[in-house]
Amino acid sequence: MDSILVTGGGELNGQIPIAGAKNACLTLMPATLLSDEPLTLTNAPRLSDIKTMTELLQSLGAEVTSLQDGKVLAMSSHNIHNHTADYDIVRKMRASILVLGPMLARDGHAVVSLPGGCAIGARPVDLHLKALEALGAELELKDGYIHAKAPGGLKGGTVNFPLVSVGATENVLMAATLAKGTTVINNAAREPEIVDLADCLCKMGAQIDGAGTSTITVQGVDRLHGATHSVVTDRIELGTYMLAPAFCGGEVELLGGRIDLVEAFCEKLDAAGISVEETENGLKVARRNGRIQAVDVTTEPFPGFPTDLQAQMMALLCTASGTSVLEEKIFENRFMHAPELIRMGAQIDVHGGTATVTGVDKLKGAPVMATDLRASVSLILAGLAAEGETVVSRVYHLDRGYEHVVGKLSAVGAKIERIKGQ
Ligand code: EPZ
Repeated sequence: MDSILVTGGGELNGQIPIAGAKNACLTLMPATLLSDEPLTLTNAPRLSDIKTMTELLQSLGAEVTSLQDGKVLAMSSHNIHNHTADYDIVRKMRASILVLGPMLARDGHAVVSLPGGCAIGARPVDLHLKALEALGAELELKDGYIHAKAPGGLKGGTVNFPLVSVGATENVLMAATLAKGTTVINNAAREPEIVDLADCLCKMGAQIDGAGTSTITVQGVDRLHGATHSVVTDRIELGTYMLAPAFCGGEVELLGGRIDLVEAFCEKLDAAGISVEETENGLKVARRNGRIQAVDVTTEPFPGFPTDLQAQMMALLCTASGTSVLEEKIFENRFMHAPELIRMGAQIDVHGGTATVTGVDKLKGAPVMATDLRASVSLILAGLAAEGETVVSRVYHLDRGYEHVVGKLSAVGAKIERIKGQ
């Protein structure tokens, strides 16, 4: 397994290009199943999760061709010959569950492996299943698989989510586009990735109102046609790299960055003493004079502070002036980066979903282990500002969600290299 060696010290200056959003692309790709005409995605990120989704769609019979070094995905689902999403692929990536709604809507039957949990939590899919049942789906759980049927096709219905779920909103939104009649989704997720999916579905002929708000209304249509769609900017990659100059000093411009994707995050950056300026190419970020100030953070569904930026923010606050309290409200086990940061000299007390971080002057480089996607990059950021060398192992987690981390950070002056595993 590869690892990444980071040598701390030195300001960061220059530009970092931000890629298309992993979490948008992972729901846009299954949308190809809704039509037998080609769907082409541009600005696609080059990530291992995208390769896994490609493998899954191809196992169903879809054609997925990666062009322009992976930035373009040309897909066609005119020949779906298999309606079973196998455990071997699904267990690698939870987002695989997003083929369920589209397959059911298109052909009236699907068998999808239960995804199982992951490092950050149990990750149940009950909300996905209840939402599809509200559209008339008949579901049975057998031998670790979801057996779904909609003999007469899906029918429009009302979906009332008891809690906000990004994936469940995406699954039922895609299914509703081909359901007979009108579907209303209440307490829908409002993430930009939902808006991007709705934009793409409307380009394919779907009739959707309210994406980005808590209530989405879908008028079902008989069929969807092909389209070409550019994947929205990745707000989590954006937020991650906005923190790089906050850790190290200097000034970095994030190309393609959009302030509307990270408003709650920017409020916390401002309170911590980091300036964010909109430019014609994106966002320019610099640390105001002196030390980062402690801030309290609570993760919430969009437009609140994103859970996917919690680990990165915690790493920054380890050397802030004062004490910060971070509350993780979305996932039950998303503080696994804390023990690794403590190995670097951080002072963090974790009690349930609350982490209290007491700022220290400086972290010290150490060998640390990546435990999940976002924790892995928070350790790299910490290593950029720490004294000495930090070696982050198990970086396969990183490859799931960040393309060319070493290239992007070294281009702005970071001392970072990837070490091939034996
Ligand atoms: C999406 O996961 C993202 N993944 C996650 O990003 C992100 O952290 C999460 O949304 C929250 O923003 C993708 O888009 C591929 P949820 P998802 O359903 O859809 C519970 C990353 O790092 N829940 O909004 O799985 C669930 O356990 C990843 O890029 C149920 O109880 O998240 C969690 O506590 C990590 N039943 C909460 O809801 C369900 O049926 C929110 O989960 C579904 C979810």
